[in-house]
Amino acid sequence: MASIDEREPLLSAQPNLARDTDVGEHAAKDAHHRRATTVRAVVYGVVTAAFIVAIACMLFFWDKIGHAVGALPGNPDDAARRLLQSAPVIDGHIDLPEFARTVYGNNISAFDLNQPTLGHVDIPRLKQGQVGGFFWSVYTACPAHAGLDDGEDFLNSTWRVRDTLEQIDVAKLLIERYSDTFQLALTTDDVKYAAKQAKIASLLGVEGGHQLGNSLAVLRQYYELGVRYVTLTHMCNNAFADSGGYLEPIKTKWGGLSPIGYKLIEEMNRLGMLVDLSHTSDDTARQALKHTKAPVIWSHSSARAVHPIARNVPDDVLEMVGTSEDKVDAVIMVNFAPQFVAPPGKADVKAVADHIDHIASITGKQHVGLGSDYDGIDSTPVGLEDVSKYPALIAEMYSRGWNRFDLAGLTSRNLLRVMAGAERAAAELRAAGATPAMDVYDKRTDLPRRQEF
Ligand SMILES: *[C@@H]1O[C@H](CO)[C@@H](O)[C@H](O)[C@H]1NC(C)=O
Ligand SMILES: *[C@@H]1O[C@H](CO)[C@@H](O)[C@H](O)[C@H]1NC(C)=O
Ligand SMILES: [Zn+2]
Repeated sequence: MASIDEREPLLSAQPNLARDTDVGEHAAKDAHHRRATTVRAVVYGVVTAAFIVAIACMLFFWDKIGHAVGALPGNPDDAARRLLQSAPVIDGHIDLPEFARTVYGNNISAFDLNQPTLGHVDIPRLKQGQVGGFFWSVYTACPAHAGLDDGEDFLNSTWRVRDTLEQIDVAKLLIERYSDTFQLALTTDDVKYAAKQAKIASLLGVEGGHQLGNSLAVLRQYYELGVRYVTLTHMCNNAFADSGGYLEPIKTKWGGLSPIGYKLIEEMNRLGMLVDLSHTSDDTARQALKHTKAPVIWSHSSARAVHPIARNVPDDVLEMVGTSEDKVDAVIMVNFAPQFVAPPGKADVKAVADHIDHIASITGKQHVGLGSDYDGIDSTPVGLEDVSKYPALIAEMYSRGWNRFDLAGLTSRNLLRVMAGAERAAAELRAAGATPAMDVYDKRTDLPRRQEF
């Protein structure tokens, strides 16, 4: 072979080393050396090749390796899709029952959730949006907004309890009718179980103390029916608390919570019913945060510092939220309603993201969630037109530096932590001997009082 021939002159060119007795020895050593070098070269070659193949494989399967350890891909849209697979959205406030009531008179045979609806919500779009659950808001309007006068003491509109029962009924009928998709959830464990079954966990929330008929007994029975939050007020004051109004504040009645409002919070804590502070006045929120023994929520509220309207939460109230000793664990679930998000024509994905970022900058990322208000709002931000669009918002937060833990908190885990906290607080209060509250709203005249016996 050419290489051996070429070596001959090299050997013969070293006559000084070639004493007779040494020649054979050197030749043998050189041969041995050459073999060792060849073996080494082959081994190194193989190791290097294997290394290169391994690197190539890692690069080629990087995505899958990343997936196995939970890392998100670099592309924000891919990252959002991936994140939502393991942490789907649980929305704090969707008005599908109100849509059923106002459009179809609660006739569940008159529409099909497997087909596109006129609203923001149907099953195909929920699946597209990777929704894992939501609170079905069971809502009926404040008397004043239904053209009725409830009187100074809120005594007349007991039909609101009937209407709330009808909304609970229609929500449950729909959950049952589409049981391949929906599953009623009463606890955090139920939510997790629904997720395991690839079902959309369906929770119930009552949107206003005016729906309680001024009665703690009604609250208890709503709990029995599966309701897991009550918003202390809607856009009107009620027997329990003052409302924060809408774009502007309204004239208040109590200066925050009424005497029975404090009892309502205690009873909600004891039951494990989440106190929802969306729609409340700032004083109601402050007093409720000071009084509650359990974590609370804002089921659908944005930040006033980002867009200055009454309905949004001010920074000094956000500052009361946290996990340290002197704060209250809570989740503020950001509302998508354009008029709460930005000036006219400016509401889009980035504007909603600004609310999320701002709230997180004050409370920490573990206290923010999503409460779209879909089917309860007339218009939507550009890019968040319906329940299929959540991934766009997750992609936006990802491109702003939110990691997979932050994002999983935002989509669902912050809410689940708060729910679990409320369940724990209820168990502790009961273990400590808390009994059902017997308090009666003092303006009621239809029940005898102790002192009257
Ligand atoms: C409910 O809707 C269905 C389908 O539109 C209709 O056939 C039925 O008459 C409705 N029921 C009532 C009581 O209106
Ligand atoms: C409320 O109901 C009472 C008794 O039914 C009635 O006398 C009163 O006028 C009502 N008040 C209002 C503001 O509608
Ligand atoms: Zn609302």
